[in-house]
Amino acid sequence: MSTLPSKLEAVVSDIEQQFLITDDFIIKATDYFVESMEKGLSSPKQTREHMPMIPTFVTSIPNGKEKGLFLAADLGGTNFRVCSIDLKGDHTFELKQSKYKIPNDIMKAQEAEELFSYLAKKVKAFLDEHHQDSSSHENPLKLGFTFSFPVDQTALNRGTLIRWTKGFSIDDAVGKDVVELLQANLVILGVNVDVVALANDTVGTLLSRAYANNPDETNANTIIGCIFGTGTNGTYYEALDNIPKLDKDQVPKGVKGMVINTEWGSFDNTLKVLPNTKYDEIVDKQTANPGYHLFEKRISGMFIGEILRVALYDLFEQGFIFQDLYKQRGGSLPHRITEPWLLDAEILSYIEIDDSTDLKMLGLVLQNNLRLPTTSQERHVIQRLTRAISRRAAYLSAIPLAAITKKVKDQYKDDDKDFEIGCDGSVVEFYPNFQETILQAIAAIDPLKGTNKKIHLKIAKDGSGVGAALCASTV
Ligand code: GLC
Repeated sequence: MSTLPSKLEAVVSDIEQQFLITDDFIIKATDYFVESMEKGLSSPKQTREHMPMIPTFVTSIPNGKEKGLFLAADLGGTNFRVCSIDLKGDHTFELKQSKYKIPNDIMKAQEAEELFSYLAKKVKAFLDEHHQDSSSHENPLKLGFTFSFPVDQTALNRGTLIRWTKGFSIDDAVGKDVVELLQANLVILGVNVDVVALANDTVGTLLSRAYANNPDETNANTIIGCIFGTGTNGTYYEALDNIPKLDKDQVPKGVKGMVINTEWGSFDNTLKVLPNTKYDEIVDKQTANPGYHLFEKRISGMFIGEILRVALYDLFEQGFIFQDLYKQRGGSLPHRITEPWLLDAEILSYIEIDDSTDLKMLGLVLQNNLRLPTTSQERHVIQRLTRAISRRAAYLSAIPLAAITKKVKDQYKDDDKDFEIGCDGSVVEFYPNFQETILQAIAAIDPLKGTNKKIHLKIAKDGSGVGAALCASTV
């Protein structure tokens, strides 16, 4: 490890300290998370102070025997995916899919129609390519719509947008029913498809992992579906008696529980317990939803790169790094360091693991991707900050997983199976050591204390597509 000049060492250590999360903190924060879940489950009004805890009207978890051909449309981040899924009824499926990038101007359009007519056109394009015969079917194909933003859901196929997250901002769509918007635009194009279910991507992840899981082989029940990708969120099955805000008349008789979309990105929006550095504050101010989703803004892929960029820029402004480069360039820095949102989390994953002499590999990555030449000293600073930011993100990620485990463990007390968590998203799937660090933090919290059960993380491939198909299969 290279030694830094003492002043810079002091500043970097101070930042590392601010990002440090202790075991003691995550244990307390887990209890506060359980409290916040309970508040969200009883409070009918959506406020900034509560985690939304949205009833999804999905009332059972798949067992792997579901069958049939369904469509799924998935809007979750910068891409729109359309898939057809043939569920084989034996924990397996066959999937066809196309992916379309949402143009920037559509993410920030004036009218909701601009987005939804774009989506409908892509569904049509997909059918024209893969299922030409669908228009002649007597019964329309059923489509599950994965819409991964906070939605106030009142039935399996009804839900109004509460607010946008992850860089979308189309004010006109807020408060509108997103199923109606999609269906109306499909009708305009004469597409023979019925939008029968609306699901968050985390609901999809839970259902698709439960479908793929064969408990006789894994000896585990799937209890949570979650995403750690561009954003972060999670879903679990809750007993009806524990959802006081739900109008029980809306639920068919005999139903015992419902999947709840926590929208945990909004955990602790009032910052009662969450760490808050000056870099978190700067990043939050730059977003389209300041003051909201503050938990997500400390964890997910859309934000960790930006936190690093802001921290590096601060050290530059304080005169510690990039000084010679700035002079050589005649008074400027590469735009990926000066402009918000251009430092991708993928780059952090390369920075994280480099152990080459003098961090030369990392130097190449920065040069190639950010056009940023660096000194050895600067590279050591960048790696230390990256590791501090990502470790905090993984430690914080353990809190909701441990909290939900604690809250539901009694539901499974007569069963000796382990707990498994279905996960999807680029950060949990690809960020080096992210899963290991989450498991280490969960072990420190020990939410299954007093039992012999273990917690496993399982990547749920194609979660949102297959999950939406599974939702559609219940109709
Ligand atoms: C954001 C959205 C949430 C989604 C998550 C993961 O937090 O608000 O609905 O599940 O991102 O994509």
